[in-house]
Amino acid sequence: MSSSASLSEIETLEAFTEELVARLSRVVPEGEVRLKAPLAWEILRLKKTVNAVILGHNYMEPVLYHSVPDYTGDSLQLSAVAAETDADVIVFCGVWFMGETAKILSPDKIVLVPSTKAGCSLAEGVTADDVLRLKEQFPGAPVVSYVNTYASVKAVSDYCCTSGNADKVVRYLLNAGHDRIIFVPDRYLAENTARQLGLRFWMAGGEEEAPASGGGPMVIGWRARCEVHELFTPEDVENVRRQYPDAIILAHPECSPEVIERADVAGSTKLMVDYVRQNPAKRFALFTECAMGDNLAAEFPDRELVRSCSLRCKHMNTITVEDTLRSLQTLTPRVELDPDIISRARKPIDRMLAIR
Ligand code: 13P
Ligand code: SF4
Repeated sequence: MSSSASLSEIETLEAFTEELVARLSRVVPEGEVRLKAPLAWEILRLKKTVNAVILGHNYMEPVLYHSVPDYTGDSLQLSAVAAETDADVIVFCGVWFMGETAKILSPDKIVLVPSTKAGCSLAEGVTADDVLRLKEQFPGAPVVSYVNTYASVKAVSDYCCTSGNADKVVRYLLNAGHDRIIFVPDRYLAENTARQLGLRFWMAGGEEEAPASGGGPMVIGWRARCEVHELFTPEDVENVRRQYPDAIILAHPECSPEVIERADVAGSTKLMVDYVRQNPAKRFALFTECAMGDNLAAEFPDRELVRSCSLRCKHMNTITVEDTLRSLQTLTPRVELDPDIISRARKPIDRMLAIR
């Protein structure tokens, strides 16, 4: 997990600005960097004053991602930092459910998410009542909820998972003897995980009746989808393949199974970032939020990152350098959760962290 320590060690605003301009020259217009650099500089100063740690998801816009976070990474990595930090304040530059996870893991800390508008179509796509109904329909089946859920859903779930460990969590449950596993809310992550492990998949709430037990282990999915990743099509992958035959194609498992089966590599944002960092190829194509490609393009000026910037996550994009500064100045908006929800939602997260 990288950190922007080298930038935060620079001693003057002028040198800091020039370094940021140079680092982002391929991906952000110079004027924009010069406008935002003093704000980032002020964030770095204020962060020390209030003893804050700043976590930046891989989808953060390039100026923010490359300047202020102490840690960057995927939701699993950043949750682990949130669980262990000594800081008094956690600033989560990511979406709201990520801030909730940090609050569940560090309930005594002040947890800030710089914008209250940073939702997520997956987290909005399932409620605690939906989960309770599924549990009634499939008694004894464990519920795995993707970390992209709100705390109220985690509180009625048995295990959590991220896109980085969904296969491990499901395999663990199979080894524990379960042959029906409820997996909410992302239909595609559930189906991709079932395919990866050679399991049957059935969509709850659809037209088809639930298959009778006895035909082999089955993942029971839910209907929510990521409003960004669902837009990538198999034709998009084929077009990129035709246009850039040497590109390694990486896709997030929130994409449809038809996209995933045509990609070379599928995995969490961490897996994709690590893959690019460790693989000497000159060209990669990313089927995920475009900012991650920008961030990698800035890190690797000698490589080409093919990406589609017409598909953006409007939620991740609401987190800006400006909002992050305001958030540190006012110590708002804070993530607040009911203590009972915190203690119930912690169990599935702890179980997931133990499996990892
Ligand atoms: P990661 O856990 O892979 O970072 O994904 C979070 C997310 O919201 C992807 O759309
Ligand atoms: Fe949610 Fe999709 Fe945005 Fe990720 S990219 S935060 S899953 S809407």
